[in-house]
Amino acid sequence: MHSYNNLPKQTNMQVLDKEFELYITYDEIQKRIKALAEELNKEYKDKCPIMVCILNGAFVFAADLVREVQFPVEIEFMKYSSYEGLGTTGIVNKVTDLPKSIEGRDIIVIEDIIDTGCTMEKILCDFKEKGAASVKVACLLQKPDKLIKDIKVDYCALSIKNDFIIGYGLDYDGFGRNLKDIYILSEKQ
Ligand code: IMP
Ligand code: MG
Repeated sequence: MHSYNNLPKQTNMQVLDKEFELYITYDEIQKRIKALAEELNKEYKDKCPIMVCILNGAFVFAADLVREVQFPVEIEFMKYSSYEGLGTTGIVNKVTDLPKSIEGRDIIVIEDIIDTGCTMEKILCDFKEKGAASVKVACLLQKPDKLIKDIKVDYCALSIKNDFIIGYGLDYDGFGRNLKDIYILSEKQ
């Protein structure tokens, strides 16, 4: 896991009523994803896991990560929601479930960001009930200082500070997911 806080801020981005600044570039994200994929390639060399992308936020990360892994893999999608505007509502809802049984299978949950950990706690609880052989968590980003749940993050590309970010799949009220780089909420609002 790496900390990320030293990129010079260059570009401003207005999304709805908020201003954001460049925080993590696309190239840096790709570098970290390749490193994460190498860890997975070692661990799953002789396995055939299912990678489960958590919608909506993880769709960009998942698309890049699955193309870097070298083991046979199935890809599925589940949808959870909890965030509204700049914060979590604390209530995590499963919006769409898996279409088939995962009993006895190795699962890699692909998540965009782990903030309080409430969403991941609910996801891991759901997977336990489904009888998976193993469940590991791979996330693009983590805000370690905000974690309030006792969950294990097995693979994490980048560790960041507490601020709200958008881009590369992450949104502010539905917007900003299509930005190539990651932007951070500007301090001067
Ligand atoms: P948690 O349940 O508090 O860990 O929040 C996890 C979910 O909230 C993630 O899957 C994201 O969709 C969303 N989220 C957390 N932090 C941010 C952020 O900084 N920007 C955008 N979405 C976020
Ligand atoms: Mg999410």
